[in-house]
Amino acid sequence: MAKVLFSKENLTIETDEPISVLSLALNNNIPVTHRCGAELKCSSCKFRILEGKEAFSNPSTAEERLLKKYDYPDFIRLGCQAKIDPNYEGLVEVGTIIKTHNKQKRVVNTKK
Ligand code: FES
Repeated sequence: MAKVLFSKENLTIETDEPISVLSLALNNNIPVTHRCGAELKCSSCKFRILEGKEAFSNPSTAEERLLKKYDYPDFIRLGCQAKIDPNYEGLVEVGTIIKTHNKQKRVVNTKK
């Protein structure tokens, strides 16, 4: 049974089935943005792998394409796609990301 620590929430959840990080989080009331409903169109469900990279399924070609599109580093995966191996023995630690890709620049008017 794999143990997954959601670092921001300081919550460890055990799983005995292959399950995506997004489903595991939502099933345990951890809010994760997932704008496209796991359709591989938005990348809003991305998260950081802090420990236990070997516990995750390999990214599909479509997931890799989306990760490359936004130039995310290797430790970033999509929560709706990355499944956890329930037989992984070590600790898995994930961190959620609030915002890393902001298309809009914030303009602050300093003149009065
Ligand atoms: S929810 Fe949109 S890519 Fe995962």
